[in-house]
Amino acid sequence: METAARTAPAAVIVAIDGPAGTGKSSTSKAVAAKLGLGYLDTGAQYRAITWWMLNNGIDVDDAIAVADAAAKPVIVSGTDPAAPTITVDGLDAAGPIRTQEVTAAVSAVSAVPEVRALITDLQRSIAAEAPEGIVVEGRDIGITVLPDADLKIFLTASPEARAARRSGELKGKEAQATDLAATREALIKRDAADSGRKTSPLAKADDAVEVDTTELTLEQVIECVVTLIEGAGAEKAGRVAR
Ligand code: DC
Repeated sequence: METAARTAPAAVIVAIDGPAGTGKSSTSKAVAAKLGLGYLDTGAQYRAITWWMLNNGIDVDDAIAVADAAAKPVIVSGTDPAAPTITVDGLDAAGPIRTQEVTAAVSAVSAVPEVRALITDLQRSIAAEAPEGIVVEGRDIGITVLPDADLKIFLTASPEARAARRSGELKGKEAQATDLAATREALIKRDAADSGRKTSPLAKADDAVEVDTTELTLEQVIECVVTLIEGAGAEKAGRVAR
């Protein structure tokens, strides 16, 4: 594990929200490692419950069936930013939750209020049990899950930049052009579903700091967020000392 090179002066709770492809996961993991904080990928938890639904023959478009089954899977998240883990009923789910099948189904499952209530409780208990502080990344962390977080950050980027990052691993130019268009469409569709749902839609908290990453490298985003967390940590340490 990378040792903490910088320090957040107090155990801070940091909420990082934003749509897919803004660099949320890479940024959150890196800043948590640099500052010696825990790390929680809440999207992975929604993916994990979705994977379980698909494996157990639940129709993900049937909200009642999803709600009825929501409490059955046992989801456990490991919060070491150097090696985050996720298991469902004891099975390693880190690989399977990244398949296209899960990605296509996760917005429907995560829109079900019973699913959100259960996963939100799980997230709050993980944050409460992180004495060193934690970076929690997702869509509704600043507004719903941890409204009292010490720092809230909302990452944004243009749809073009987000699609380019998501499909960046493809080599051939032609393949990349086709993939870029498809990735952009899929991202826009998922954003619309995540932002438009009734329960806890993707949204920026009024007191969140917005960081537009379109023109920034990952290193620049990390530096910016580390500086914001150090500021929030110093402020918290001052409050605690007073
Ligand atoms: O960050 P991600 O792409 O792995 O997230 C997968 C899905 O989970 C995303 O489409 C919306 C949902 N999600 C959510 O509803 N609330 C969160 N806090 C995190 C993710």
